[in-house]
Amino acid sequence: MDHPADLNLELYLTEIEISERVQEMGEQISSEFTSGKLLIISVLNGAFIFTADLVRNITINHELIFTKVRSYNGIRSGNEIEHQLMFDGRIKGKNVLIIEDIIDTGKTLDFLLGEIDKKEPASISVAALLWKPDVYGYPHKIRYVGFSIPHEFVIGYGMDYNDYGRNLKDIYIFKNYKS
Ligand code: IMP
Ligand code: MG
Repeated sequence: MDHPADLNLELYLTEIEISERVQEMGEQISSEFTSGKLLIISVLNGAFIFTADLVRNITINHELIFTKVRSYNGIRSGNEIEHQLMFDGRIKGKNVLIIEDIIDTGKTLDFLLGEIDKKEPASISVAALLWKPDVYGYPHKIRYVGFSIPHEFVIGYGMDYNDYGRNLKDIYIFKNYKS
């Protein structure tokens, strides 16, 4: 069961619902980072589509870089975190905004916040399209949340199951999910 045709998917958020919310998030971010230097750090791979849409709704000047952090294998949040941070000394003194596709247990975010904090930013905030409050296990505040969702595994709009399904325009619940 690793081909999209074999996946049992249920439509959860439509392309239109996503795009309306992403526009609102962009407007809010644009109105709130009015002083200092804004450095956006997008977390690959899953956030690539959300980032492309969100930054085009951000009207203030900012730098955009990418980092690569991964803790998932299939549908399970793994214990090992693989990363290629690629920060290149860009963080010090800046207001950092992390863009994540989805925050589940929070383990990936916790790791990333620790690494960014070491580089002495002026501030760190997080924007996540999706957040699973029922499984989130850390105290870090998620400043911008697109949608809070139940404890389900979702794919589409950049999010994958073993790298399949990232291309889907809508977001679907993967019904074969068993926790
Ligand atoms: P966490 O470390 O448990 O918070 O997991 C965060 C990362 O796992 C996200 O950035 C996603 O890449 C991936 N992930 C978590 N939940 C899902 C899901 O429902 N669908 C697809 N990827 C997910
Ligand atoms: Mg991710």
